[in-house]
Amino acid sequence: MQSNPTPLFQSRIGLGTWLMGEDPSKAKQETKAIEHALAIGYRLIDTAEMYADGTAESLVGHALGAFATSRREELTLVSKVLPHHADKNGTIKACEASLRRMRCDYLDHYLLHWQGSHAEESTIEGFLSLQERGLIRHFGVSNFNQSALLSWLKAERNVGMQSGCRSNQVYYALNERGIEFDLVPTMAKHGIALMAYSPLGTGNLAKYSALSAIAAAHGYTAAQVALAWILRKPDAVAIPKSVHENRIEENWQAGSIQLSEAILTELDALFKPPTRATPLAII
Ligand SMILES: NC(=O)c1ccc[n+]([C@@H]2O[C@H](COP(=O)([O-])OP(=O)(O)OC[C@H]3O[C@@H](n4cnc5c(N)ncnc54)[C@H](OP(=O)(O)O)[C@@H]3O)[C@@H](O)[C@H]2O)c1
Repeated sequence: MQSNPTPLFQSRIGLGTWLMGEDPSKAKQETKAIEHALAIGYRLIDTAEMYADGTAESLVGHALGAFATSRREELTLVSKVLPHHADKNGTIKACEASLRRMRCDYLDHYLLHWQGSHAEESTIEGFLSLQERGLIRHFGVSNFNQSALLSWLKAERNVGMQSGCRSNQVYYALNERGIEFDLVPTMAKHGIALMAYSPLGTGNLAKYSALSAIAAAHGYTAAQVALAWILRKPDAVAIPKSVHENRIEENWQAGSIQLSEAILTELDALFKPPTRATPLAII
């Protein structure tokens, strides 16, 4: 009998960790926030070697508990290599260091944080070596616009592979819809999943009164509508960051919300879809 393959993401709402780990006096609250997210069902955590110089990864490692060992397969862990580390050997070393900090044996998605100056073929060779050793399940990119993604796919062909890249983590939120024009169709064509970062517009959408009014009329909060709107796309996941348990719960509930056509139309009127190519929004 064939076993089912592990899905690309174990939950569609994940927890972001950017800006965690910056202030030692907040480490306890941040670790508890990650633990709480795991306790209520989050199965996707996003981090990066860049975040607080590795301290965010260490916080994740502290919080994982049994999810690092006996329950590891239930979880999707994402981390990213800095572009200036991303030649073949640098990519391998950076991943090994991330795994040590995160106290686990493998990452589910390992991404190039943004396009850098090392040959992409070299980064891909690093990713392939890590895959062969079982240290990463999938690799992907982040902050890649359409032309960067096409260049990456060409580099994959140059090293003799097809369909390696599994995800592109980009800024996508109601207030930043530019990628719908060209990048999203290109990603769909190549089977590359969308990991939406800053899905709350770095928090601004949660405070946006016009959005709050639409959301309240349907019994939701603005943050929940902003997240459920991303999940209307079947191959998208959203990785909101919060260190507050009530917000972590509020955001998690967005995963069960199916927005009606009526509310989607209202949202299109408030946040217009793009009608032409625009530069990729990057934070
Ligand atoms: N690949 C990249 O280059 C890149 C770039 C940016 C971000 N990311 C990833 O994406 C994650 C999320 O992006 P982000 O942190 O920039 O922005 P975000 O998730 O859109 O917003 C986070 C902000 O919103 C607040 N917030 C969260 N839930 C809320 C709620 N329900 N109501 C009101 N406020 C709420 C948080 O405050 P509290 O924490 O105080 O609750 C925080 O200030 C990052 O943590 C990181 O993992 C990746």
